[in-house]
Amino acid sequence: MLNRKSVSALVAGAALASAQCTLPTEPLTNNLTFPFRVQVQNATRSEVHNKFMNLYEAGGGDQHLFIGPVGVPTYDFTLINGVINHEPKGVRAVIGGEFSEIDHTTKMFMTERGDPRAIFQPTWACNPDTDEPQIELQFVEMQGETPGGWICVRSSFDGSHEFRYYPPGNELVDPNRECIKVTLVAIEVDPSEIPAYPTTTATTLVTSTVAATSTAPAATSTHDPSALFADLTHLGWRFIGCAPEERWANDGPFRTLSGAMFGSDYMTNEACMAFCEGLNFAFGGTEWSRECWCGNSYAPTREPNTTLASVANCNFRCSGDNAQYCGGDSWLSLYAKCDEEEECENATFS
Ligand SMILES: *[C@@H]1O[C@H](CO)[C@@H](O)[C@H](O)[C@H]1NC(C)=O
Ligand SMILES: *[C@@H]1O[C@H](CO)[C@@H](O)[C@H](O)[C@H]1NC(C)=O
Ligand SMILES: *[C@@H]1O[C@H](CO)[C@@H](O)[C@H](O)[C@H]1NC(C)=O
Ligand SMILES: *[C@@H]1O[C@H](CO)[C@@H](O)[C@H](O)[C@H]1NC(C)=O
Repeated sequence: MLNRKSVSALVAGAALASAQCTLPTEPLTNNLTFPFRVQVQNATRSEVHNKFMNLYEAGGGDQHLFIGPVGVPTYDFTLINGVINHEPKGVRAVIGGEFSEIDHTTKMFMTERGDPRAIFQPTWACNPDTDEPQIELQFVEMQGETPGGWICVRSSFDGSHEFRYYPPGNELVDPNRECIKVTLVAIEVDPSEIPAYPTTTATTLVTSTVAATSTAPAATSTHDPSALFADLTHLGWRFIGCAPEERWANDGPFRTLSGAMFGSDYMTNEACMAFCEGLNFAFGGTEWSRECWCGNSYAPTREPNTTLASVANCNFRCSGDNAQYCGGDSWLSLYAKCDEEEECENATFS
């Protein structure tokens, strides 16, 4: 097994040996026990090239992965049996969820649960800019699936990019939201230079402490018309409708509401509105059974329709209450805080 010192020595030796990139001959195993940052490279795509993988608290013990201004810079990844680990948070990189119909990509994120792992093989290669030897994390496979494919990043909220898996044999591209193929590189970090990890990622971000036992949200085929939405008017929140969410078009930000969020395996519409109310937001919405989003405004293009058919897009049961709906796949069950001077009334649908 290669330790930190021997990597430095080998890299230094190789660089001295020649002005060209001469790769160390020491074979790499699928364990990297020294702390590293994960750098993303695609020299032809400057918007992502040389940016670093950040962790973003997602609730339920999960961490989302982003490059760009979203998330917390992370210096202490390790690789165990080909799987990227973040030991302090007890999570590992997996592939699953948020399947995109348009380009057949799937999210890569970190969790303590047993989802299929993203498997990598460390490989010596030459840095495209400096021509120095570097350790690339070559993507091998999504555990249990046909080997191959690659990791790509696509635009997400607030100028960030999120990590996704592009399966082998796939040729689909989302013309509005291309998933850019990237090389992941392990950049060794001196353990004494690892900054203290913040306990929260943002002041408005609340970490859910619930047990991580969630399963994939279940869409219901027929929407029960007697319970289209949870009536929260008694709490001072009115239902506006089922709003499009996570859309990538030139019609405003990616997220419909992006002021604050939390995820929980015990999500209800009441819990979400209580969270948004506590932070003084004017709008709140639930999505994907277990996510809660808050904000003070949303783009006019995200205004929900008042048809029964449009409400039926919010057909994922809440993770914390099977009798209510918490959004859908890229659909948000949207509520607004009622004005105290006025009657608090839900929108009507026909
Ligand atoms: C990698 O590390 C794991 C866990 O410590 C160990 O079980 C495995 O044998 C190691 N593999 C190699 C090739 O060193
Ligand atoms: C950069 O991204 C483009 C778009 O995904 C891809 O075609 C190209 O192969 C990538 N280049 C590298 C070096 O990965
Ligand atoms: C509202 O309905 C119109 C007409 O059917 C449709 O084109 C549009 O996409 C719908 N918008 C939403 C947010 O559902
Ligand atoms: C929506 O709110 C009104 C109160 O304004 C209430 O009478 C109605 O029952 C609510 N609708 C549903 C479907 O809960």
